[in-house]
Amino acid sequence: MKAENTMEKIVSLAKRRGFVYPGSDIYGGLAGTWDYGPYGLQLKRNIEQLWWKKFVDDREDMYGLDAAILMNSKVWEASGHVSGFTDPLVECKKCKRRFRADHLENTEKCPECGGELSLPRQFNMMFETRVGAAADSSSVAYLRPETAQGIFVNFKNILDSFHPKLPFGIAQIGKAFRNEITPRDFLFRAREFEQMEIEYFVQEKAWQQHFEEWLRLLREWTEEIGLAKEHVHEVEILDGDRAHYSKRTVDFEYDYPFGQNELFGLAYRTDYDLGKHLEHSGVDVQYLDQENNERFLAHVIEPSMGLDRLVLAVLLEAYREEKNGEETRVLLKLSPKLAPVKIAVFPLLKNKPELVENARGVLEKLRKDFTGVAWDDNGNIGKRYRRQDEIGTPFCVTFDFDSLEDKAVTVRERDTMRQERVKISELSTYLIEKLSI
Ligand code: GAP
Repeated sequence: MKAENTMEKIVSLAKRRGFVYPGSDIYGGLAGTWDYGPYGLQLKRNIEQLWWKKFVDDREDMYGLDAAILMNSKVWEASGHVSGFTDPLVECKKCKRRFRADHLENTEKCPECGGELSLPRQFNMMFETRVGAAADSSSVAYLRPETAQGIFVNFKNILDSFHPKLPFGIAQIGKAFRNEITPRDFLFRAREFEQMEIEYFVQEKAWQQHFEEWLRLLREWTEEIGLAKEHVHEVEILDGDRAHYSKRTVDFEYDYPFGQNELFGLAYRTDYDLGKHLEHSGVDVQYLDQENNERFLAHVIEPSMGLDRLVLAVLLEAYREEKNGEETRVLLKLSPKLAPVKIAVFPLLKNKPELVENARGVLEKLRKDFTGVAWDDNGNIGKRYRRQDEIGTPFCVTFDFDSLEDKAVTVRERDTMRQERVKISELSTYLIEKLSI
C-alpha cells in the first residue's frame, strides 16, 4: 500500500496541475462534488473510451445507451430504492455532525467531539427534486442513484428495435447521484459521480458460466488500465452484506492509501429488476425465445464501475517520487493509452522564431498521426520536463539549434529520462512503436 500521505499529494497535484478541482471552489466548495480540469477530463475520457471500446465497440452482443438522469419516481419505487436505498445515520447530540453508523467502531460516542450519538435511523440517499410547476407529490422525481435502471426500463425498447438473442448486454456511461452521509477520500466517495455499467442479460441456467467469464474480463481490464495485480483483490461478498437484488457479488477492491476498499463490483442481479418492472408497470418485459416458443424473464450479470474511483486508482498507481541527489522527481507513470498528453513538443527557446516555427511544424505533423499532442514553451527545458513528468506525458520532443542542420529532434522518455536523437521524417513511426497505440 502507498504511504498514507500519498492521498494528500495526489489531491494537491490534481489541483495544481489541472486534473481535479474541488467543486464550487471559490465559494468554499460543496462537499462530495469535484470538477475535472483539462488533464483530469482527458484522463477520464481516455479510461471511458478504452472501456467503451473493449466492452461495446469490439463486441457484437452489446448495445449502447444514454438514458435520462431524471427518471419517473415509479422506477425507483419498483426497483426498491425508495424503500431500501438507505444507509444507517447517527447524529452527535452535541456537535450535530452526522456519521454512517456502519463506518464507526463505536456507535455510541462521537469520533469528533466525544459527544453522545443518537440511535441509527435509515437515511435514504436519493436526491429528490420536482419536475414542472406543480409542487405536489406527483411532481417528485429522483436523480438516478445508479445508471442501471435506465438500462432496465429500456430493455424492451432494445428488444423491439434490434431483436437481440440472449446473451446480450446493454452498456451505459453517465452521472449518478447519491446523498452520501459522509463523502470522503477525494473522488472515492462523492455525491455526484460517474458510472460505467453493463447489464448482461442471460438465461438463468447459464448465469454461473457468464459470471466467471465476466470475472476474467474484469481482471483483464484492471491490468489494461495499469493497476498492478498485487494491488487489486477480489472479495466475495457474503450473504447479508450484498445489495437487496444480488444473489452473488464479487467486489474488486484496491489498496488505497486509506486501506483496501471497493473499486468496482460484479453482481448477479437475477431477474429481480425486470420482474419488479413487469409487476409495477404492467408492461411485458419478458424475452421471447423463438426457437422454443418460450417467454421468460432474462437474468442479469452486472459489472458496475465508478469512473471517478478508477481515475483515483490510476493516479495513485502511477504516482512516483524519485530521489535524484538533492532533488525529488515527481512523475505519473501512466500507461500511454491513458496519459492526457502523449507527446509534448518544445522549441528549445521561445524567443527564437526559427526554432518556434520549425517546432510548430513538428507539432502539426504529429497532430496528424496522434491525439494528445501538446505545445509547451513555458520556462526552461528542465521546468518543462518536470511539468510534463508530473502530468504523466510519456514523450517530450525538443527542436533545438542542431535540428536546423540535422533535421532531427531530441526525444526524451519519461520513465528512463533517456534522450535519443530521431530524424523528423522518422518521428511518427518511432513514436507509434514506442507508444504502441
Ligand atoms: N448498479 C449497481 C451499483 O450502483 P454500487 O456498488 O452501489 O452498485 C457501483 O455502485 C460502483 O459505483 C461502485 O463500485 C463504485 O465504483 C461507484 N460508486 C458508488 N458510490 C460511489 C460514490 N459515492 N462515489 C464514487 N463512486 C461511487
